[in-house]
Amino acid sequence: MITTTGLTKVYRSRGRDVTALDGVDLHVREGEVFGVVGRSGAGKSSLIRCVNLLERPTSGTVVVDGQDLTALAGRGPRAGAELRRARSRIGMVFQHFNLLSSRTVQGNVELPLEILGVPGRERARKARELLGLVGLADHARSWPAQLSGGQKQRVGIARALAGDPRVLLSDEATSALDPETTRSVLALLRDLNRQLGLTVLLITHEMDVVKTVCDSAALMRDGKVVESGTVSGLLATPGSELARELFPLGGAAPAAEGAARERTVVDVTFHGESTGRPLISQLSRTHGIDVSILGAAMDTIGGRQVGRMRIELPGRREDNAVPIGFLRERGLTVEFPGAAGAARAPEAPEAPEASETPETFETFETVEKTR
Ligand SMILES: Nc1ncnc2c1ncn2[C@@H]1O[C@H](COP(=O)(O)OP(=O)(O)OP(=O)(O)O)[C@@H](O)[C@H]1O
Ligand SMILES: [Mg+2]
Repeated sequence: MITTTGLTKVYRSRGRDVTALDGVDLHVREGEVFGVVGRSGAGKSSLIRCVNLLERPTSGTVVVDGQDLTALAGRGPRAGAELRRARSRIGMVFQHFNLLSSRTVQGNVELPLEILGVPGRERARKARELLGLVGLADHARSWPAQLSGGQKQRVGIARALAGDPRVLLSDEATSALDPETTRSVLALLRDLNRQLGLTVLLITHEMDVVKTVCDSAALMRDGKVVESGTVSGLLATPGSELARELFPLGGAAPAAEGAARERTVVDVTFHGESTGRPLISQLSRTHGIDVSILGAAMDTIGGRQVGRMRIELPGRREDNAVPIGFLRERGLTVEFPGAAGAARAPEAPEAPEASETPETFETFETVEKTR
């Protein structure tokens, strides 16, 4: 549904070039919720803004719903008619809602319909229908200032749906909200995804968001996508950084050098049908070894149960080839937490700075002023 190929964005600022996107190939399948995570400055917002051509990519292509947007003329508020039309089929939800305080809730939802030239009565009908869909039927005449953050974001979502989009883009839509409200807004996005068959590309710095709603995810660093795949596939990928951050494993760290020689610490991930099977006790019985459990956790990720366990086996790693083979043969992912990369603490992405979206806002403002 969304495919970017070799997407590059170089900003020129104060005579210096900043490469925000460095050859991004991304594929978001129709009907999925796809999450992009990464630290502040990794290029996440640049990516989403290039996907709907709010920013024109320096090179590369963006194809949304079979249409090559990069081939259409214009950018930002100066987009050509064709690009505007294509963009009306891509909804966008912002971190800071970007509602116009001078308009009622219904007026805000009607705004994109005005831009599309939809007649007044049809606009009102559509806006009320969308407000019903996001659970705000009773607030049509309220002003944005009278709403809570969660309600404002629901208005933002209703507005994003006004053009009957097939794709919804969301840049940190929940990061200004408290955890409870975040959950309800995520549930709404999930419902819309299922009810309307909407494809959702969302950006977040919260792993919990990925865990709760995403089918697939990508990790960005320095303008590149360094990992991507379905969430369940990533969890089954040994050494996956995303998997480790999605599901950090507590428990004792591997023992120091000297002691470690006689014992082997192993991180085991159970997914799919292996979660329900007594594999550790089978291992212990079949191979006559004592297994110590150092830490364990179960979680539901993307609607599926996943378990992780840090266990300790007697003997050195070389002596444990058979029991480790036993676990791997049964579909478990086995990693050595002391191994390169695996022992690093997950990098907590910094909270992003407030990112305004001047072009979009400008578009709305311009309409407001010329009315
Ligand atoms: N309009 C701009 N002009 C110049 N440089 C920019 C512009 N927008 C972004 N950048 C730079 O591009 C890089 C990527 O920025 P981007 O906003 O895409 O990151 P991000 O991953 O969304 O970060 P955050 O999590 O903080 O929102 C950064 O180095 C940023 O300073
Ligand atoms: Mg950003």
